[in-house]
Amino acid sequence: MKLFLATLALVSLGIGSAWAGAAEGKAVFDGKCKMCHGADGKGNPGMVKAMGVKPIGGTAEADVKNAVTKGKNKMRPISGLSAKQIDDVAAYVHSLK
Ligand code: HEC
Repeated sequence: MKLFLATLALVSLGIGSAWAGAAEGKAVFDGKCKMCHGADGKGNPGMVKAMGVKPIGGTAEADVKNAVTKGKNKMRPISGLSAKQIDDVAAYVHSLK
């Protein structure tokens, strides 16, 4: 019973904080962002030193989209992503802690 409740809590947390697109966003993130931002969004240590990458987990989706489409400081705009992929990766980054 305890396990059941814990599972239920995890499932509802998952639905509340990250909608389905975030799973697809992870694939985009792993392909296009991880080399600088690290798997968990906290920053790839080499890039933190070289480019001043800061942790991005929890960033508002609008700010993620801006960074991806327009760039941010030393980050250049990321090309080759569809509007849906940008939405998905924004949801994913927002869901990272
Ligand atoms: C070549 C390295 C590199 C890649 C690839 C990269 N970024 Fe960045 N990113 C940076 C740097 C550098 C910054 C700026 C850090 C700062 O000065 O705040 C940044 C900043 C950000 C921010 C913070 C924006 C804000 O408003 O504070 C977000 C969100 C972000 N990146 C998301 C992404 C996503 C999503 C991708 C993949 C689609 C990506 N980045 C790919 C280097 C990179």
